[in-house]
Amino acid sequence: MINPDEIQKIREDFPILHETVRDGKKLVYLDNAATTQKPKQVVDAISEYYLKYNANVHRGIHALSEIASDMYDEAHQRVSDFLNAGFKEVAFVRNTTEALNVFTYGYEKFISKGDEIVVSRMEHHSNMIPFMKLAERTGATFKYIELNEDNSELDLTSAEEVITDKTKIVSVPHMSNVLGTINPVKKLADITHDAGALFVLDGAQSVPHMKVDVKDLKVDFMGFSGHKMMAPMGSGGFYGREELLDKLEPLFYGGDMIKVVTYKDVTWNDLPWKFEAGTPNVGGGIGLGAAVEYLQKLTMNKVRGIEHYLTKYAMKRLTEYDWVRTYGPSSIEKRGGVISFNVYNNDGMLIHPHDVATLLDEEGIAIRAGHHCAQPLTVEKLCIPATNRMSFYIYNTTEEIDFTIDQLERVHKMFS
Ligand code: ALA
Repeated sequence: MINPDEIQKIREDFPILHETVRDGKKLVYLDNAATTQKPKQVVDAISEYYLKYNANVHRGIHALSEIASDMYDEAHQRVSDFLNAGFKEVAFVRNTTEALNVFTYGYEKFISKGDEIVVSRMEHHSNMIPFMKLAERTGATFKYIELNEDNSELDLTSAEEVITDKTKIVSVPHMSNVLGTINPVKKLADITHDAGALFVLDGAQSVPHMKVDVKDLKVDFMGFSGHKMMAPMGSGGFYGREELLDKLEPLFYGGDMIKVVTYKDVTWNDLPWKFEAGTPNVGGGIGLGAAVEYLQKLTMNKVRGIEHYLTKYAMKRLTEYDWVRTYGPSSIEKRGGVISFNVYNNDGMLIHPHDVATLLDEEGIAIRAGHHCAQPLTVEKLCIPATNRMSFYIYNTTEEIDFTIDQLERVHKMFS
């Protein structure tokens, strides 16, 4: 059971939530699937790095570099522990998109004509285009796991049909950024491994919101973004099983990712540094470590609990209106804190999500409207140009949901 006072206490850590926008309107921030706000603890950790021990890492034989290296390595250790991965199995990159590109280019040498690569019909572009292009470069066949009848969940029968002994890679999102669906990852990993293929996970919308144990989920490779979990922009990373990372070709070549270089040859540095070419985003990595520390103190059970409470409340409120249509599973247990919806006028005409979002913005409410970087799902499957999307995090309140729904009533009336 969530006590609203707990949420009020969490809000104290986020100064931005007490800002006003649009000439004095209280900010209602419901665009957390796009990026979350940052608590003081994370901003302080980054500022401390820049103000007190800014230096390059793993290179300098001087005091500041030693502190910066220790703090950067400590952040790696914290993130690895958070995912139940080994230190060597987690590298820091800019975001999920970069992580999945590192994988698709790095694994290219193992894919050839006649192989099959499988993703799902509910992909974010970042987990679709890298695999589509990998198939194109190698001559492999590109296939999709279909959705169920109401386009809310993956169809496991389809998964069993499209994953065959020719399949080399299966990649799915842990949670859809449009539908909010939490996919049955363990089951999909089993189907994939039974076929002898690698199981890749897009963890962008799950790692910030629920306990993700890569060993328990039997994931071979997973990308995630720091900025969606209170860490700074440009921080994120990937997990890969050590044996897999050992054979993966690095995407970026350069400084720090090498062990020995001669005029003729090069050997790679130990994991995970083999995948961190050049000067890394040290402040960002330290910020990511601080964000994970914040989540660990709060506990992922609490994070999931708060989002479950908010999603249940919002879904109940939204279904009071016959002019609102929501997308994704009707069962709250099967979804995370993302609700895509559309609003219709009294003649049953769609009120364009961009109009809805603009009118809400006038009142200080931030939602996202569009295809959410999942254009094939939105346009070709849901058969709509766009949706509105409210997405929650640990600091949102039921009062904010009520206020947003009051404003949706205003928009509905205005267009009717
Ligand atoms: N992928 C992010 C979203 O869903 C940007 O909004």
